[in-house]
Amino acid sequence: MSTNDVAIRVEGACKTYKRIGRSHAHMAVDGVSLKVERGTIHGLLGPNGAGKTTTLKMLIGLVRPTAGTFEMLGEDSTSPKGRRSLGFLPEQPYFPQHLTALQALRFYGRLGGVLKDEIDGRSNEVLAKVGLRGEECTELSKFSRGMLQRLGIAQAIIGRPEIVVLDEPASGLDPVGQRDVRSLMLELRERGTTVLLSSHQLSEVEAVCDRVTILNFGKVAAEGHIDELLNVSGQTSFKVRGLPEFPRAVSELASDVAVSGSVWVFSVEDSAVRAVVDAIDDAGGTVMSVTPKRESLEDYFARLITLAGLEVAS
Ligand SMILES: Nc1ncnc2c1ncn2[C@@H]1O[C@H](COP(=O)(O)OP(=O)(O)OP(=O)(O)O)[C@@H](O)[C@H]1O
Ligand SMILES: [Mg+2]
Repeated sequence: MSTNDVAIRVEGACKTYKRIGRSHAHMAVDGVSLKVERGTIHGLLGPNGAGKTTTLKMLIGLVRPTAGTFEMLGEDSTSPKGRRSLGFLPEQPYFPQHLTALQALRFYGRLGGVLKDEIDGRSNEVLAKVGLRGEECTELSKFSRGMLQRLGIAQAIIGRPEIVVLDEPASGLDPVGQRDVRSLMLELRERGTTVLLSSHQLSEVEAVCDRVTILNFGKVAAEGHIDELLNVSGQTSFKVRGLPEFPRAVSELASDVAVSGSVWVFSVEDSAVRAVVDAIDDAGGTVMSVTPKRESLEDYFARLITLAGLEVAS
């Protein structure tokens, strides 16, 4: 990744909080570094209290860092100049309650650089995009939690920023809203926007993120391309159909065997792939897919966090 390709750079981020009644300060973020390539979607994961929100807030200048360098598009991101092209969804979006949805968006849109002539059209466009068409004139005091979240996403994107930082975008959304947010992130990426999001929705992360950083106890526990993290090296997954019984030759080689109707799913060592394809063929079955074995992000995450817990306890 050359310097020009880096949209977000965090280097050695640290944040300590003093705690009343305790002698030691609490290290909420402890030496976190991450790079996000331009035009990609990067996920920040980790259990509650891992330091995701604190890292994002330091990046955008809402929390004063104890140490670290924070850059967006090569500029210090804690300075107003560095935040020029940023859209941000906070963990708990808050809006003046007496405004209507359209009034709020007009305000945030103008702050985000949308021209006066364009503001009503653009506000209505993003309201529709986040599923709030028809709610333009509703006062925000009457908005539900999920509606406020949708409006929060709308205000983050209204100025067409080059970088969008979203702290738990799916929080409080119904299943359709969650799917809409996924599509929206993919649409943003298509237009070249860089997205950094924190999330507990592992399926969302798995579906949209190019790379992820996993935080635990304020430190980076893992970082990488989703495929690199989740592919189980040396193992291949099969999906086959048309077998009334599982062939003995295959069962000797297969692990994690599951069946649904006439469809069998199982894994084998890479070296056994040729033999298994031949055995399925001989038994009259059809191979539907042969793919590198992948752990679900949920399993990976649970394994990582459990391991870290054991290390801390020992
Ligand atoms: N203003 C604050 N004062 C003191 N401690 C804080 C403050 N804000 C956060 N912390 C502490 O910093 C740590 C990291 O919190 P943070 O909100 O960054 O976690 P998170 O990963 O975003 O968690 P969640 O998944 O619950 O949103 C926690 O231990 C939290 O108690
Ligand atoms: Mg948080």
